[in-house]
Amino acid sequence: MNLLNNESIRLLRRSLEYFVPYKLHIIIAFTALGVVALCTAGAAYLVQPALDEIFINKDRTALMFVPLLLIGVFLAKGVGLFIQKYLMSYCGLKVLERLRYELYAKIICLPLDFFGETRVGMLMSRIINDVNLISSSLPEILRIIQHSLTMIGLIGLVIYRDAVLAFWACLVFPLAVYPVIYFGRKLRKVGRNYQSKIADISSHLQETFNGLRVVKAFATEDLEKEKFAQTSNKLVRIGIKGKVYNQLSSPIMELIGAVGAGLVIWYGGSEVIAGNRTPGEFFSFMTALVMLYDPFKSISQANNTIQQAMAGAERVFEILDSQDIREETGGTRLYTPPFAALRFEQVTFSYPGTQEPALKDINLEILAGQRIAFVGSSGAGKTTLVHLIPRFHDCQQGRIILNGHDVHDYSLASLRMGIGIVSQDPFLFNVSVRDNIAYGHNADQSQIEQAAHAAYAHDFILDLPQGYDTVVGEKGVKLSGGQKQRLTIARAILKNPSLLILDEATSALDTQSERIVQQALDNLMQGRTSLIIAHRLSTVLSADSIVVMDGGRIVSIGSHQELVTRCPRYQRLYALQFSTTAGNTESQTTQ
Ligand SMILES: Nc1ncnc2c1ncn2[C@@H]1O[C@H](COP(=O)(O)OP(=O)(O)O)[C@@H](O)[C@H]1O
Ligand SMILES: [Mg+2]
Repeated sequence: MNLLNNESIRLLRRSLEYFVPYKLHIIIAFTALGVVALCTAGAAYLVQPALDEIFINKDRTALMFVPLLLIGVFLAKGVGLFIQKYLMSYCGLKVLERLRYELYAKIICLPLDFFGETRVGMLMSRIINDVNLISSSLPEILRIIQHSLTMIGLIGLVIYRDAVLAFWACLVFPLAVYPVIYFGRKLRKVGRNYQSKIADISSHLQETFNGLRVVKAFATEDLEKEKFAQTSNKLVRIGIKGKVYNQLSSPIMELIGAVGAGLVIWYGGSEVIAGNRTPGEFFSFMTALVMLYDPFKSISQANNTIQQAMAGAERVFEILDSQDIREETGGTRLYTPPFAALRFEQVTFSYPGTQEPALKDINLEILAGQRIAFVGSSGAGKTTLVHLIPRFHDCQQGRIILNGHDVHDYSLASLRMGIGIVSQDPFLFNVSVRDNIAYGHNADQSQIEQAAHAAYAHDFILDLPQGYDTVVGEKGVKLSGGQKQRLTIARAILKNPSLLILDEATSALDTQSERIVQQALDNLMQGRTSLIIAHRLSTVLSADSIVVMDGGRIVSIGSHQELVTRCPRYQRLYALQFSTTAGNTESQTTQ
């Protein structure tokens, strides 16, 4: 343990905090391991009466008692060992559960900005692998204590049997400590590299599986295979290195042990031959000495495990304790509908790590019941603007005032519950249709069906194999884009938000499904204030006011008629975008 530096001690202490609730378990485990240590030394002690009394003196009473005692000693040792191991595994698993939960709870509450594509795999690896390592820290420490106690018992016996011989045997000991230090350090480094390579693999998997369509479209399977093989190979090489260090440490220490044993036999044997010792005393000594090897080896292994645990702890607590990785916090005010007004006041926002602001000096007022359309070319900042309202991001300058209060004043949950968002790519969970619609709500069947009706989803849901109980997504039925979108609309209808955001909700759909989704959206917009990022002319035409965006700025606000005459940017958009979708709408209506 003296091998740990300050940082490791801090990490260790931090890890051990998690074991505090299991004080009682640990105390019992401690008692049990005391018994184990005592029994181990006891077994070595019994070698002397066994040899001297039974085999040399041929004493019949000893013949009765010594074997029974031996069985008793091992029985006690076994029970003690079981209790100790059981309790420690129990505590380890409970701590694992707690850590995994805390990490997940922290991560899921982090701001959206934190979740870049590659980080997801890294985070998964921390939740799945690293916490495992930490949970073994205390059990390993107890193992060290157990083996230390056993060693103390055995060393006591060794000295009791022959102090001079013990002195010589112990001379070899410091020699054996050096490899423990050396390999411990190496293994910790390997452990750290190994975990980081696992995270790399997770990221790679995450990225390529998510983007498999792109991989296939560009026929880069071989390239990805090659990249994967390289990462995997690095992992293997580090793994092998770790194994080498791990396996080298035992034979080296065994060799050192053998040197010690050779010396002891040479000296002890000559003492027995000279008649200064009985063979029983010598063999009891020898047994204790040989038995010392096991706890000594275990301690060095436990030390390695603790080093690895600390490497895991470093990565886990980096997230749990970091000042920079902070959970989002909201205010205390509860946002309560109805929606009255929303005002952007000189809002400027840049994504973290970018130079150019995505939104510049936005001023905008939205009143209850209005239908506001946002238009602009791709990258103009439309999505970014609407995402500031539920605080998916926070603006660096300016304020966003909702019903007279800064959005920061509202609790995040109440703020977000009051806002409905339907975006371009509908996301469904891998659960039943019912649970997808009712996500986040305790809705009864009739409410769910009502929402599904309004979203034009009820009929197709009934046609699914298990109706509302059909599982969608990865493990269930595949739905079309339009069907998925209608489910998310039903979900939004059930949420009953007072402010609605539609972010190109129909842009990914073909004209056929677009029409029915549009009808569903019309139902959803009924009686709500809506912000609509639009790519269809009909949506734009039905808006009370149109906000034209370009390069992160609002360039113009007005009705279609006004903008067509006075906004060149709008004229261009109209010519490029809406005239084609207008054509679509017409061809639809003539069908
Ligand atoms: N997560 C992000 N990180 C960094 N930059 C982003 C991110 N999302 C969008 N941007 C940038 O912000 C600008 C506005 O994007 P966005 O609001 O999505 O535009 P729109 O919805 O109008 O197409 C673009 O220049 C885009 O590259
Ligand atoms: Mg967008």
